[in-house]
Amino acid sequence: MRMITTLAMALLSISITLVSSAKLGVVQTESGRVQGTNKGTGLFTSVDVFKGIPFADTPGLWEKPKPHPGWDGVLKATKYAERCLQVTLLQTETRGSVDCLYLNIFVPQGLKLSSNLPVMVYLFGGAFLLGASNDLAILGDSLYDGKEMAERGNVIVVSANYRVGTLGFLSSGDTRMPGNYGLWDQHAAISWVRRNIAAFGGNPHNITIFGQSAGAASVNFQMLSPYSKGLFRRAISQGGVALSPWALQKEPMALTKKIARKVGCYRSDEDTMLTCLKMSDPVGLTMAGKIDILQILGNGVVMDLLELAPVVDGDFVPDEPARLFHNAADVDYMAGICSTDGHIFAGVDVPSINRKKANTTVEDVRDLLAGLTKEKGTAAVGSAFSVYSAHWGSNPDPAVVKKTVADIETDFLFLVPTQIALQLHANHSSGGRTFSYLFNMKTRIPGFPSWVEAEHSEDLQYVFGKPFATPLVYFPRHRDLSRNMIAYWTNFARTGDPGHGDSKVPVPWPTFGKTHHPFLTINHKMTKSSVGYDLRQNYVNYWTQMYSTLPSARRPQRE
Ligand SMILES: *[C@@H]1O[C@H](CO)[C@@H](O)[C@H](O)[C@H]1NC(C)=O
Ligand SMILES: *[C@@H]1O[C@H](CO)[C@@H](O)[C@H](O)[C@H]1NC(C)=O
Ligand SMILES: *[C@@H]1O[C@H](CO)[C@@H](O)[C@H](O)[C@H]1NC(C)=O
Repeated sequence: MRMITTLAMALLSISITLVSSAKLGVVQTESGRVQGTNKGTGLFTSVDVFKGIPFADTPGLWEKPKPHPGWDGVLKATKYAERCLQVTLLQTETRGSVDCLYLNIFVPQGLKLSSNLPVMVYLFGGAFLLGASNDLAILGDSLYDGKEMAERGNVIVVSANYRVGTLGFLSSGDTRMPGNYGLWDQHAAISWVRRNIAAFGGNPHNITIFGQSAGAASVNFQMLSPYSKGLFRRAISQGGVALSPWALQKEPMALTKKIARKVGCYRSDEDTMLTCLKMSDPVGLTMAGKIDILQILGNGVVMDLLELAPVVDGDFVPDEPARLFHNAADVDYMAGICSTDGHIFAGVDVPSINRKKANTTVEDVRDLLAGLTKEKGTAAVGSAFSVYSAHWGSNPDPAVVKKTVADIETDFLFLVPTQIALQLHANHSSGGRTFSYLFNMKTRIPGFPSWVEAEHSEDLQYVFGKPFATPLVYFPRHRDLSRNMIAYWTNFARTGDPGHGDSKVPVPWPTFGKTHHPFLTINHKMTKSSVGYDLRQNYVNYWTQMYSTLPSARRPQRE
């Protein structure tokens, strides 16, 4: 008996060896050969992982990315490349390198080598100041590790670096130093994927780009650029669009002068100043881009600190983003937000909202509104306050007032711009479908007030399958949510409709149209009633109709 079992085991193990999953081995790209690693994920499944493939040469200071010269032999693509030079989280020093234009590829394999798979290219967030394609490795793999998504959704996942901070986004506002270098890097990465992904088993005609926060706004900028014509078919913005007030620098020269002062390059003659900047040390320039938190004392708000951002350069971004949606007419677009996306910003602007022992006053709320609506002078404060306090009653619960502060920031920074982008996309569509969502899974961050729902970035752990990769720190409800989000996201990449594709979803997701505005509420308990209509319509109407008709005050000089 025992011998038979041993024999059976031996035969089984032989057959497993003979029919183990396929793997890519060495892959030929346009610049040379690369070899990654193959990670087993199940009995007959695995993921081929390539880390640190260059998609462009080391870029010159404030120059567009250039093609990589190529290499001989086989490049070992087994380690993440360095992140692009940036300030550290504490902003006391820099990290990373100017040699940073690399991407990573995750290819799911079964018994047969994969071919013609949909491709999803991820653009990281970090306020255009920080971040990398391999960011946030807290429990083992990076938050953006693509293995779970690739495996569970049967798609190729790609993540790419791009320049951030001063080196990525400084601009003179004209052709001398046009700006948007980080956007050009993203474009170069997506174009590399388009030219090379077939060799990895991907379908170059089936590319979806997706991103979160500054990465989500970047996704939107890529869609709106005339340079993207035909480059990708679909796009997903998670918590940010090009219309977000923090996503566009409207006075780039004022910022450039400020940076020039910090590195000793300020001159009254602009050409001399720019020449001096171009000869400066990249590390010093990067440090000069750090956020000065003291600046928000007075009537400032956190939003004002996010100064290094894309610009209208007359080239990659030829006009105001709101006027460019015709360029995305045939791209399928899915966009949404986390329900308390603005909470971390609100907590800096109005610290009392997170303090148990303090109340937030009417004056705090008015000050916040004044800070956010500075460009309208004081004209908007009264009308905005009456809209946001309409549900308070005569003696509001302190928690209601606090939540109102978070709602104001969520609406202003994320929700309203996203709704406008969705409408503009739907209104200009020539076949591209539009989908809207609200992610409101209760936060997992301990210590926050009970009214906080989904915090900024909290959607990412589910999209990237962390409840499966690190099961011990999650509950089954988190795995249900993660499975469903991966299904919606990868179905969308496969078919252009998140409700249709290889993966089962709990409820169909209706398309957002010119006059019909459904949205899907995403959490761990999804049913037919998860479909709602006209997300926060009162507030969206206030900002898009009432607020936008108020005349702008003269903007204060920010130099
Ligand atoms: C995209 O991929 C899906 C699934 O593999 C396929 O059905 C569809 O035809 C592809 N689209 C194009 C344009 O190749
Ligand atoms: C906050 O407001 C509540 C209700 O109005 C009141 O009972 C409480 O004493 C206030 N707390 C503080 C610290 O002022
Ligand atoms: C989109 O079109 C609808 C219907 O024509 C219109 O009411 C709406 O204002 C448009 N939205 C935007 C943001 O232009």
